Amino acid sequence: MAKLTGMVLVTGGNRGLGLEVCRQLGRLGLKVLLAARDIAAGAEATAVLHSEGLDVTFEPLDVTSLESIDNLVDRLGRQGTRLAALVNNAGIALEGFDATVAERTLAVNFFGVMNVTERLLPLLERPGRIVMVSSGSGELEGLSPAIRQRLDPPPPKEELVALLRSFVDDVRSGDYARKGWPGSAYRVSKLGLNALTRLLAEELRERHLLVNAVCPGWVRTRMGGSRAPRSIEEGADTLVWAATLPPEGPTGGFFRDRRAIPW
Ligand SMILES: NC(=O)c1ccc[n+]([C@@H]2O[C@H](COP(=O)([O-])OP(=O)(O)OC[C@H]3O[C@@H](n4cnc5c(N)ncnc54)[C@H](OP(=O)(O)O)[C@@H]3O)[C@@H](O)[C@H]2O)c1
Repeated sequence: MAKLTGMVLVTGGNRGLGLEVCRQLGRLGLKVLLAARDIAAGAEATAVLHSEGLDVTFEPLDVTSLESIDNLVDRLGRQGTRLAALVNNAGIALEGFDATVAERTLAVNFFGVMNVTERLLPLLERPGRIVMVSSGSGELEGLSPAIRQRLDPPPPKEELVALLRSFVDDVRSGDYARKGWPGSAYRVSKLGLNALTRLLAEELRERHLLVNAVCPGWVRTRMGGSRAPRSIEEGADTLVWAATLPPEGPTGGFFRDRRAIPW
């Protein structure tokens, strides 16, 4: 197997799984673009990885801002940057459940990933890899038949987007449970992300882009909390694996511990 070379961009790289993915990719000899929305935190994380001898550059990126995404794409385009892989890691899990929480969660975990991926596509090498950092919460198992049949198989992208927007409206009107939605914005965001992964994998197959969703397991990060059974190093492993797949590697799959799991 040829060794992967080149540049990889990781969103939400300043802490948690994102930072560890940057570290592990750097140790494999890849040049890493550590993207983060908080300038100070991003610069500090980059300095830590520099002190470990790794080739890492900080790129400011708020995945919920189209302006921020476009600025990144322009900067990288001007530098002639080509990406061997994109790791869509940035994510949030907010307390509580109402329309505002639903909207904010989807803005990062679904629409943020969609916009970053679509706009960075021209900079991805062929073959290239796109990693969607998902979660076991995104599994279809246990979902109401009404919502499951609208997500599996995934509808065309415009319909998927409209469906997720309708979730926010249904939460706002108090109608979400009657319509079959689960009472978790995080779960819906990752269900949407998994559906998007399946759509993009098909769409980009001929362009030799491998698009996979990965679940890190329950990991001791700020999001996962201190009671989680997995270390950050363990959680990052499958993300790094998916970002460094060989050209003949899988696409359109959902993986945990480097093994396929059901959608
Ligand atoms: N930990 C787990 O048990 C677990 C389980 C399953 C899936 N995951 C997934 O793994 C990924 C990483 O989670 P983690 O556990 O490492 O969580 P974390 O420690 O809370 O880190 C989340 C990262 O996302 C960034 N982020 C949030 N909103 C952003 C935005 N608008 N633009 C750019 N970056 C943004 C955060 O930046 P700031 O520092 O600026 O907030 C931070 O770098 C997430 O997608 C999560 O859903 C985690």
